[in-house]
Amino acid sequence: MKIEIRKLEKRDSRADFSSGDIEIDRFFIKFAGQNQFKHKIGNTYLAVDSSSQNILGYATVTSSSMNIEALELSEFKKFPNYPLPVLRIARLGVDKRYQSQGVGGKLLKKMLYLAIELEELVGCVGVFVDAKDDAVDFYKKYAFEIAPVVDGEFPTRPIQTVMYLSMKTIHKILK
Ligand SMILES: CC(C)(COP(=O)(O)OP(=O)(O)OC[C@H]1O[C@@H](n2cnc3c(N)ncnc32)[C@H](O)[C@@H]1OP(=O)(O)O)[C@@H](O)C(=O)NCCC(=O)NCCS
Repeated sequence: MKIEIRKLEKRDSRADFSSGDIEIDRFFIKFAGQNQFKHKIGNTYLAVDSSSQNILGYATVTSSSMNIEALELSEFKKFPNYPLPVLRIARLGVDKRYQSQGVGGKLLKKMLYLAIELEELVGCVGVFVDAKDDAVDFYKKYAFEIAPVVDGEFPTRPIQTVMYLSMKTIHKILK
């Protein structure tokens, strides 16, 4: 199967998507479309089978900012002490039928390339993700690290761990 990564289109049928995580599925089916097409607050990228165009997985990203001072991470110490631009992976999920076949990794890599584009276009210091407990090790595989305290973290979502990858590491990974 040849996997293609492309932006969500209005004609894409999302109703059957099932990753095994109710919240990841609900977001994709109910909100990914309106967030991208109506509100324009976050774009969704799909991994599809390039011949059938079946949806294998998705990642939703949004531009965001982080108060780096709150992070106390050595990589970010050089930056000025005000909120800095980051790319935030809001959701990432792979349909159960296609998990463990490299789809999640391909989507994640595409997000890292987006961060490089963002860095060149408007500036970006890294990629951040609110990782679900089960996915922390998935992100660690790609060199993401756990962030200690992050300004902007939602206190109502304690089951998530904020993880990050600095642009310096992203450039190293994609070289
Ligand atoms: C987590 C998830 C996105 C991974 O996608 P996937 O397509 O199954 O992952 P891949 O096949 O691309 O795996 C890439 C690598 O990560 C590893 N990996 C995948 N899921 C993992 C996990 N949960 N924990 C640890 N490692 C994981 C794989 O073993 C693989 O390693 P390898 O290259 O050495 O073989 C997917 O399982 C999923 O959608 N889960 C439910 C929803 C979810 O938890 N989303 C994350 C929200 S933050």
